[in-house]
Amino acid sequence: MSATPDQPAGDLAADVADAHVLVTTGAGGVGKTTTAAALGLAGARAGRRTLVLTIDPARRLAQAMDIEHLDDEPRRVDLDDVPEDAELWAMMLDMQTTFDRLIDRHATSPQRAAAIKANRIYRTLSSSLSGTQEYMAMERLHELHDSGEWDLLVVDTPPTRSALDFLDAPKRMTTFLEGRLLQLLLRPSVAAGKGLGRMVGAGASAFMRVAGRVTGMDLLQDLGEFFRNFEGMYAGFKERADQVLTLLQDPSSRFVVVASPEPPPLREARFFLERLEQEGLHAAGVVINRIRPEVPQDPSDASIARVVAGQPDDAEGEALAGALRLLGDVRNLAARQRRDVAAALYGVTVPARIDVPLLGLDVHDRAGLDAIATTLTTGKAP
Ligand SMILES: Nc1ncnc2c1ncn2[C@@H]1O[C@H](COP(=O)(O)OP(=O)(O)OP(=O)(O)O)[C@@H](O)[C@H]1O
Ligand SMILES: [Mg+2]
Repeated sequence: MSATPDQPAGDLAADVADAHVLVTTGAGGVGKTTTAAALGLAGARAGRRTLVLTIDPARRLAQAMDIEHLDDEPRRVDLDDVPEDAELWAMMLDMQTTFDRLIDRHATSPQRAAAIKANRIYRTLSSSLSGTQEYMAMERLHELHDSGEWDLLVVDTPPTRSALDFLDAPKRMTTFLEGRLLQLLLRPSVAAGKGLGRMVGAGASAFMRVAGRVTGMDLLQDLGEFFRNFEGMYAGFKERADQVLTLLQDPSSRFVVVASPEPPPLREARFFLERLEQEGLHAAGVVINRIRPEVPQDPSDASIARVVAGQPDDAEGEALAGALRLLGDVRNLAARQRRDVAAALYGVTVPARIDVPLLGLDVHDRAGLDAIATTLTTGKAP
């Protein structure tokens, strides 16, 4: 491992053994879900009752955990070689169910909760509002934390455009709910559907009436009803967002920032690490996933060049020369990746940096997941 003073090598063994919440985050496709599953496995091996909250795991990963039908309820993963009390459970975030429960909890009456859940505006909004998935992941995390059932909760994060979206989601959600438009719409006259024309302009209102006729959906009424029923819920939402933040700020909640060894995801990892510090959140470390293993310097580039140049002009010679050229390419790529990592993380202090090598195939079985879990907890390549 090519550690520098700013990026000590290290491992996540202590985090897996004593953290209460581990959140994997990083750019799209870098290996957040895989890392979360491997950390969960490591947590169970460390003797802890562990739950992995995943978001859209690849089918092969679910297969690797022998859980092909993940849903909102935790399911136990069959493990034979864990300490007696240790357990690994996995589940998948179900946004709609989580959002519905949130409405149940905060609505001022069961009737209002039912009205909101049946409202077409809500059904659309709850799945399309930007940041909803991130917010719901945090909401679900808080519920699971409250249940007191789990020693370790490993939380995967959604494939957001930017990992930073994730940190901003609770704020965005409460800002939306507190928003001026909403406040205005909540005026009783507006809520009754009468004042909307004044609010959004007569043209827009006329358009909506026409749209309502054309689509057969009474938008005005749905909107008015939606906002009216939301009345009285803002304080609850805001309080919940604050509780989530408090949970995340606790030193036993730590972020595992995942990046692949290319400049864009590395840049994002750096931004994220800086943001964590600003927000008083704790980083467990940075995982450089799918890095090319270093290729030994023997034979040297010069001797490869000599052999390649001196090969006989037959099929065997060509094949050997090709293989050696490939070796040179892989070695260069491995070196470049390490330079990119060092450059992107220069000056950033992280408790640990773990390099997880690119495995031959994608991670599709328990052995692959095990190999990653071992690397995460020992810092050593399998
Ligand atoms: N170290 C590794 N070696 C080989 N393949 C890997 C490795 N880590 C992850 N993969 C593979 O890369 C793919 C993406 O991984 P994963 O789904 O964990 O990424 P993600 O960050 O969760 O993606 P998304 O942002 O879409 O949620 C998967 O097919 C997985 O098996
Ligand atoms: Mg994922």
